[in-house]
Amino acid sequence: MALYAERWFSLEVVMAVVMAESKSRSAPWPHVWADQAALLECQHDRLEAFLLELVLRHGPEQPPWGAADALAVEGACRRLLWDLRLHLRLEERWLSAQGCLCPGHRSAHRDALQAALSGFLYASGDRYGRYLWLQALQSWFLEHRQGADARAYASADALAHHQS
Ligand SMILES: [Fe+2]
Repeated sequence: MALYAERWFSLEVVMAVVMAESKSRSAPWPHVWADQAALLECQHDRLEAFLLELVLRHGPEQPPWGAADALAVEGACRRLLWDLRLHLRLEERWLSAQGCLCPGHRSAHRDALQAALSGFLYASGDRYGRYLWLQALQSWFLEHRQGADARAYASADALAHHQS
């Protein structure tokens, strides 16, 4: 049980650093696309790690949860949604400033967030349902990063390089 408790502690740590460590509180927001892209990719990495951690926590091979575990996981899922929303808004703002946010990309964000929120609520109190929800969100996030995001970032990189 002690080991398991330590693993929950690590989940709390992951939650706390997902977005906070990607930008120091005292540091200004970057104004140059190269720096903005680096920060967005850092957030991508952390969100991917957070999603993987939560998928593993919800897996059927994990032992049953106690009340404290269930509360911690619920908080972690809410934090995931919050961090994802902030990340997508930041990405939209910076890609839009570069002229590289197409309407389809923005609507993909909106649709994914709506689906994530409704899926989260629908699976409330259902550990396996949340497991499936997290897997679906993880799939979307990975595909989106390698698809729409990769294309938009490449366009922004090319434009920034051309302008410099
Ligand atoms: Fe995106």
